[in-house]
Amino acid sequence: MFQINENYQKLPGSYLFSTIGKKVAAFQEANPDKDIIRLGIGDVTQPIAPAIIEALHKAVDEMGNAATFRGYAPDLGYEFLRSAIAKNDYQARGCDIAADEIFVSDGAKSDSANIQEIFAADSKIAVCDPVYPVYVDSNVMAGRTGTYDAEKGVWSNVIYMPCTAENNFIPEFPKETPDLIYLCLPNNPTGTTLTKEQLQQWVDYANKNGAVIIYDAAYEAYISEADVPHTIYECEGAKTCAIELRSFSKNAGFTGVRLGCTVVPKELKCGDVSLHGMWARRHGTKFNGAPYIVQRAGEAVYSEAGKAQLKEQVAYYMNNAKVIKEGLKEAGYTVFGGVNAPYIWLKTPDQMTSWEFFDYLLENANVVGTPGSGFGPSGEGYFRLTAFGNYENTVKALERIKAL
Ligand SMILES: Cc1ncc(COP(=O)(O)O)c(C=O)c1O
Repeated sequence: MFQINENYQKLPGSYLFSTIGKKVAAFQEANPDKDIIRLGIGDVTQPIAPAIIEALHKAVDEMGNAATFRGYAPDLGYEFLRSAIAKNDYQARGCDIAADEIFVSDGAKSDSANIQEIFAADSKIAVCDPVYPVYVDSNVMAGRTGTYDAEKGVWSNVIYMPCTAENNFIPEFPKETPDLIYLCLPNNPTGTTLTKEQLQQWVDYANKNGAVIIYDAAYEAYISEADVPHTIYECEGAKTCAIELRSFSKNAGFTGVRLGCTVVPKELKCGDVSLHGMWARRHGTKFNGAPYIVQRAGEAVYSEAGKAQLKEQVAYYMNNAKVIKEGLKEAGYTVFGGVNAPYIWLKTPDQMTSWEFFDYLLENANVVGTPGSGFGPSGEGYFRLTAFGNYENTVKALERIKAL
């Protein structure tokens, strides 16, 4: 009789967005005349920029012509895209990352979930709390996380690094040394980030302790402050301890198009074994390349027109972030994030739990956000609003919140 991977049975249900969905649906049914504004889920709302649409159309036409048709893409990505990423995201910032250290993928979610499989089964992971849930859940599936304490919402074999207002959302070095450290900066859900100097300390820590940092830079495009690094490779020594994940979802609206990449520097080694070689092997065996038309769209992200249009798109969302942040401040809330990230993280008022505030906001302002406790125990007492809505709804939502 076949047996299942029992680790899947350990996963607690993904209650967060389904519970939100159910609550919103029930409220709408009971109040059909209410206009609900959704500032909860981190999906984008603006259409794909014209320069990218043009590249997509052109690539589609090429696929319909025998002379220019392309079949399987190279497993690791087309040279034209890998070079554009290396040149624009790394070399232009003074980081010595070569095109062949970049592995093109279908997005940062899969890479952030898959990367753990090149590490030992007994590797100890450290995550920030609150956290993007994929890092922990993918390690649960691999059997690395021990047992789940449903009451506390923590795994026995995971190191949690609380990030709260008390420590300015700066994770502290754990007492126990981890093997893998997941850092997402700028951060989802808190919208906060680290300065280059603070990130350098983590790079030094990882190099000193023989740990690898899995650095999720999905929100890099939203950085506005000068002392915030755009890539971990701006830090000295990062090439011997860090893997970086990138996404085209938030900077270019590819949530439905799907494109990302992972950087594994050749200098990153465990003894004589290069992780670059291992990830190439993994990618070559399990991934058959991102679609040609999508990679051409990705290339257009780096064209002059693409860059200019995406700068405007990011500015549009960051203007929403400002509306939310300033509006909440005016209404007397304590708020974080929203300067280098499209997320605003607020302290719930009057000692309300995250879910109590969710209900309060839905019922009284008809605005949907995300309860902080859904991202981990240290998220309790916080709430996330996203700047990915449209401007008119964002303004309307804040008017309603201010009127409460
Ligand atoms: C921190 C973080 N990483 C990765 C992703 C997923 O990115 P992609 O759409 O490239 O899979 C998200 C999406 O919300 C995210 O918040």
